[in-house]
Amino acid sequence: MNAKITVLAGDGVGPEVVNEACKVLETVANRFDHRIEFTDAMIGGGAIDKLGTPLPEETIEICKDSDAVLLGAVGGPKWDDPLASVRPEQGLLGLRKALGVFANLRPVRVYPQLAKSGPLKEELVANVDMLVIRELTGGIYFGDRGKKPDATGEFAFDTMGYSTGEVERIVRLAANKAKGRRNKLTSVDKANVLEVSRLWRSTAERVMRDEFADVGFEHGLVDAAAMHLIQRPADFDVIVTGNLFGDILTDEASVLAGSMGLLPSASLGDSGPGLYEPIHGSAPDIAGKGIANPIGMILSAAMLCRESLGWHKEAESIEAAVEQVVAEGVRTPDMALAGETTVGTIEMGRKIVLAIRELATSASAA
Ligand code: IPM
Ligand code: MG
Repeated sequence: MNAKITVLAGDGVGPEVVNEACKVLETVANRFDHRIEFTDAMIGGGAIDKLGTPLPEETIEICKDSDAVLLGAVGGPKWDDPLASVRPEQGLLGLRKALGVFANLRPVRVYPQLAKSGPLKEELVANVDMLVIRELTGGIYFGDRGKKPDATGEFAFDTMGYSTGEVERIVRLAANKAKGRRNKLTSVDKANVLEVSRLWRSTAERVMRDEFADVGFEHGLVDAAAMHLIQRPADFDVIVTGNLFGDILTDEASVLAGSMGLLPSASLGDSGPGLYEPIHGSAPDIAGKGIANPIGMILSAAMLCRESLGWHKEAESIEAAVEQVVAEGVRTPDMALAGETTVGTIEMGRKIVLAIRELATSASAA
């Protein structure tokens, strides 16, 4: 098969990790007899500098014309002025909207060898394997907003809203994902306070009762869910929630894995290309140093294979290679315990590419 992939390297460590993910994709394409055509396009701060906009029209066109989009990260201190009229993050939000990718899948699993790497007790995180599904093109990130003078100075507002249709489609997608896993869905809201959450809750309840009676289902309030994620994270299978709560809870959940640098994501719509990005940001503090962890980006490429190209064996071979390299003790600094030897971004990528080839050889020898 021929696949067309748009590459949006973006800012900060984006280009460094994207490079490694492209090498990995090339490797699986070779192994399984596919051809990939990569096209680069601009987004974020780099695009602001060159073209004055974080999301050039041309980028949207190129993305829409491809099978999938691989994105590194956007943003950085250079573009952080709160008074600036254009911001890199607008590029990312605009792209998600333009591609209609309303469901952001953020799997969190803990490699046994890394259960000690994070700040939580090993026995607490050992069996964590959850999938957080964040609504991505609605809610407060896309609601009416504004600022006006008032007696104290100024008054600013952002509004949160969800329609029945928006809740139905994300809950359906989440319930279907739960079916392929441990069959348990937790919907997270703030229904004791917010009108939006009450609509979310009643809609989720109806969809689950009418269409997914065989899937275990519970609701949780976001404040309690934040606590339970740390207290008993292994209890969760699939979590579905709105844009703001999902943004916050997935950063929190990433701590369970030991390093944010390990976590991938996929953003999917009803049709059209999916968008694949690691959940870490542009990490300006380590950008250009060659030490960023490419695993989150590489696992995002695995999700790309599975979700956008239907390349299941290919996705599995990437995931197996990452598992092997982690088991062998290869560590970038963010994953390492004090005193452990570390490698840089390129070396980590190279080890994963080698592991894909090695696994291929041992599979064909078997
Ligand atoms: C994320 C990021 C983005 C978001 C930012 C960069 C706009 O935090 O993907 O979680 O809030 O969605
Ligand atoms: Mg975030």
